Parts: sequence; C-alpha cells; structure tokens
Amino acid sequence: MILGVNVDHIATLRQARRAFEPDPVMAATLAVLGGADGITVHLREDRRHIQDRDLRLLREVVPMELNLEMAATEEMIETAIQIRPDLVTIVPEKREELTTEGGLDLHGPGNKFRDAVQRLMKEGIPVSFFIGSSIVDVDVSKEIGAAMVEVHTGHYANSRGEEQREELKKVMASIERARLNGLYANAGHGLTYYNIMPVASIEGLRGLYIGHSIISRAVLVGMERAVREMKERLD
Ligand code: PXP
Repeated sequence: MILGVNVDHIATLRQARRAFEPDPVMAATLAVLGGADGITVHLREDRRHIQDRDLRLLREVVPMELNLEMAATEEMIETAIQIRPDLVTIVPEKREELTTEGGLDLHGPGNKFRDAVQRLMKEGIPVSFFIGSSIVDVDVSKEIGAAMVEVHTGHYANSRGEEQREELKKVMASIERARLNGLYANAGHGLTYYNIMPVASIEGLRGLYIGHSIISRAVLVGMERAVREMKERLD
C-alpha cells in the first residue's frame, strides 16, 4: 500500500510570512526517511502554498513517486510536461475553497479532461482523476482515459455512524469498480490516524494520499515520526 504524503501545509506555514521556512522540500526529505512512498503537492493557480520553485526542487530530491495535483488548465499541463512528475492527479480547483472540496465534475463538457489526459499520457505521465465515491464517475474516468482514480474520502471522514458506514460502502464499491475496469484505485482526503483503518483495509486499493493529519502530528512530534506512525497503521 502506497502512502503519499502531501506537504502543502508546510508551504502554507511558510507563505503565512512569505519567509523561507519551513521548507516543503526539507519536509519531503524527512517524510521519505520516515517511510513515505511518495510525495504529493498541489500547485494551485493562485500559488497560495506550493511555489514553482518547490516543484522544481522536489523533482530533483524525491526518489520515488512525485504526485502533482493540479487543475486541468493550459498553464498546469505545460508545467507538468516540463517538470515530469511520476503522476498527475487532476483535481477541481476553486479559489475560494479552503481545500479541495469534492471530486471532479466529469459530467459537464469532458473535453478539457480528455485533452489533458491525452497530452500528459503522450509525454509518458500517468493521469489520475480525483473523483467522488461514485461508480458512474469511475466508468466515466475510464472512458475519458484516466489510468487511475483517487476516490474522495472527505465525506466518509466528516460523517459519523450509519452515514459513515454508508459512505464507506460507496468508497469500497468505487474502488472495486475501478479494479474491474482495469484502473488503479487510490483514496484520499480527510484521512487521519483515527479513521484510516477501514479505508486502508479495502481490498484492491493501491494507495492513500494524506496531508493534514500527518502534518498536524509532525508539528508536534516531528515529520519522520509522524510519517512512520501512519505507515505503521497501514502496514
Ligand atoms: N488527495 C487530494 C486529491 C487532495 O486534494 C488532498 C488535499 O490537498 C488530499 C488528498 C489530502 O487531503 P488531507 O489534507 O485532508 O489529508
């Protein structure tokens, strides 16, 4: 099971002062030492946390999967082609949101996504779609040409009791559907040390992408230890 650690929040702290520290590149190195299988960053259009410089340096220092989350815009496609991450995850992006709020809307005009997938795949960069927990969205992702999906677990994370159990079933069904469609399936968003187990136990899951919870613990106990403790839960 791949653990991709999202280091955006290290950059958020740095940008709060427009300073040089803490550096997400250093954080990524420590995450790797702690057992991360990959590093994820979201290069946002407004550059509110990760900067272009971070992405360039991360490409040099991350020895395993560098996953670039991005909107399917011309600027981002060109950046990805230049930097050559190991994986691009296409996410919806709204300026006013605190974090990525939902999966992609694949039911509008799909050409934007199709074009992005084709151009990135032509360059040898696999593309994952960040989608809601819906088997229809898995099918549409396959049809558009994504190699992978990442199923949004935010609703699972934020609900309780019966509602949470129902949402977990939907996440499981989406992952199973991806597997049947020949797509790799990941999951992420809102996952913590406390709610990870049921998701991590889903059969056929390729990887989990986690940011906020690991960085929150890292602030108190250090990056390596925070990653190691999450990795131990997954193993
Ligand atoms: N996966 C995707 C596609 C995301 O956009 C994010 C948030 O940046 C995450 C995973 C990680 O979410 P969290 O910070 O809640 O762990």
